[in-house]
Amino acid sequence: MERAHSAVATVAVWLALAGLMTDRARADGAALFSENCAACHGDHGEGSPELRAPVIAGLEKAYLDRQVEHLMNGKRPVSADNAAAVGMIDTLRGLGAADLQAITAHVSGLPVPVLDEPAEATTFRMRGLFSGCMSCHQAQGEGNAALSAPRISHQYGWYIKEQLLSFRFGKRGNDPTDRFGKQMKTMAIDIASDADVDQLIAYIQKLGR
Ligand code: HEC
Ligand code: HEC
Repeated sequence: MERAHSAVATVAVWLALAGLMTDRARADGAALFSENCAACHGDHGEGSPELRAPVIAGLEKAYLDRQVEHLMNGKRPVSADNAAAVGMIDTLRGLGAADLQAITAHVSGLPVPVLDEPAEATTFRMRGLFSGCMSCHQAQGEGNAALSAPRISHQYGWYIKEQLLSFRFGKRGNDPTDRFGKQMKTMAIDIASDADVDQLIAYIQKLGR
C-alpha cells in the first residue's frame, strides 16, 4: 500500500514538473528571441531594412530549423559584406540546440506582418513568370510545407532579390547535400534575364496584400 502511494506521488510530481517545463520552454522561446534575435529581426520578427535582416515571423518551424542549421554549418552562405548576417552566425553557434528549438517555435508562432513596401501594377508578364513558382510556393506565395517550400510573400523585395541572385549565381543551394536549396537553385537559374528577376520581385511584393 505504502509503495503504491509513493508511486502515485512520484507520478504526480513528475507530471507537475513536465507541465512546468513546457511552460518554461514556451516562456524561454520569447525571452531568448528578444535577447538574441530581436536586435536585428525586430521585436515581432518583422526584420530590419537597415540591417538587411529579413522578416522571419510566421515562417514554418521546419524551414526555420533548416535555415538555422545551414547558416551554422555553412551550407547556406551569407555575403561576406553583410556584417549583420556574419554576426548572426556567431550568435546562433553560441546557443544550444534546446534554446534554438524554443526560439524557432516562438518565431513560427508570431503573426505574419503586413509590410508597407511600394508596389508596381501587376502585368501579364509578371503573372506568367510567377506561374512557374506557384507549384511550390503557391498562388499567394504562402508556401507549401509538404514540399518544404517557404512562404515568400510578406517579405522585403530587397531580401527576395538578394536570395534569388544568391541561388542564381550558385552561392545558396550549391552544397550537394542541400536538397531543397538545390531545387531552388535550378529554378533561379532558369529565370531568363535580370529584367525578369525584377518583374518577379515586383509581383511577389504584392502578394498577400
Ligand atoms: C546581428 C544581426 C542578426 C541577429 C542578432 C540575428 N540575425 Fe538572423 N539574419 C540576419 C540577416 C542580416 C539575415 C539575412 C541573411 C542573408 O541575407 O542571407 C538573417 C537571416 C536569418 C534567417 C533566414 C531567413 C529566411 O527567410 O530564410 C533566419 C531563419 C534567421 N536569420 C534566424 C535568426 C535567429 C533565430 C536569431 C536569433 C537566435 C537571429 N537570426 C539573429 C541578421 C541577424
Ligand atoms: C520545385 C519547387 C520550387 C519552385 C518551382 C520554386 N521554388 Fe523557391 N524555394 C523552394 C524551396 C524548397 C526553397 C527553400 C530552399 C532552402 O531550404 O534553402 C525555396 C526558397 C526560395 C526563396 C528564399 C526564401 C527565403 O526566405 O530565403 C525565394 C526568394 C524563392 N524560393 C523564390 C522563388 C521564385 C521567384 C520562384 C519562381 C521563379 C521559385 N522560388 C520557384 C522551392 C521552389
